[in-house]
Amino acid sequence: MMRTFLIVALLSTLAAAAPAAAGDVEAGRRKAERCAACHGADGNSTLSGTPSLAGMGAFYTHWQLIMFRDGRRRDPQMTPFVQNLTDEDLGDLAAYYAAQAPRSRTAATSSSRAAAGRPLALSNHCTSCHGPALMGQLQVPRLAGQDLDYLVKRLRGYKAKTTSDLDGMMTMVAQSLSDEDVENLVHFLASMPAER
Ligand code: HEC
Ligand code: HEC
Repeated sequence: MMRTFLIVALLSTLAAAAPAAAGDVEAGRRKAERCAACHGADGNSTLSGTPSLAGMGAFYTHWQLIMFRDGRRRDPQMTPFVQNLTDEDLGDLAAYYAAQAPRSRTAATSSSRAAAGRPLALSNHCTSCHGPALMGQLQVPRLAGQDLDYLVKRLRGYKAKTTSDLDGMMTMVAQSLSDEDVENLVHFLASMPAER
């Protein structure tokens, strides 16, 4: 019960700290042209290990871009593209991707692993924060239909404390997951539809 309270408390604290100005979708569309080679023209990437951004809450994307720009989240491919962007640019980009329709990635998923992952997503409260259909909310990203390799990379990173983490919640959640749990969970997450 304490856990549920913590989750609710954190969600409301972060909502209060939301980046203030809503971005401009059309300005974001132009600014996103530089990102299309990796993330796809409409934010649906086809590269393994590269996340799709379409339909992610603007709040989540905005915060991740701030963290990349500040060096709190690092990636050799990604970091160079955000270093010189203004706050307005980050807001516009986040608004643009939030307005794009998400599509499921095409990675082959194992139905037996997905079936084993489904109850784990409930027992580990993944659905409390990421939403019942895992479509994300506020600062919590969409996981449904996301790239399988990317999901593995992030979950292993949280467990090893080598990936950035906005509020520390994922690092805490990931500690109790075994390698087998991670494997089953990602097949379940990737097999959930990203389409709304
Ligand atoms: C050369 C390829 C490349 C380009 C160009 C690129 N990115 Fe990325 N981006 C990546 C990779 C790879 C990751 C995953 C990094 C990781 O594993 O942490 C990423 C991660 C992200 C994330 C985090 C998504 C999540 O679910 O946490 C956001 C947001 C993002 N990129 C936005 C952008 C924007 C906006 C641009 C253009 C200004 C851009 N990227 C340009 C490769 C790229
Ligand atoms: C207390 C709320 C909470 C719970 C419970 C939770 N998450 Fe998260 N999750 C978050 C937040 C917040 C983030 C963004 C963290 C960051 O800045 O990297 C996140 C990020 C992620 C990411 C990175 C996605 C991306 O686009 O980069 C994955 C994967 C993930 N969570 C999987 C899970 C799984 C699997 C579970 C259950 C085992 C789970 N989460 C439980 C709040 C939660």
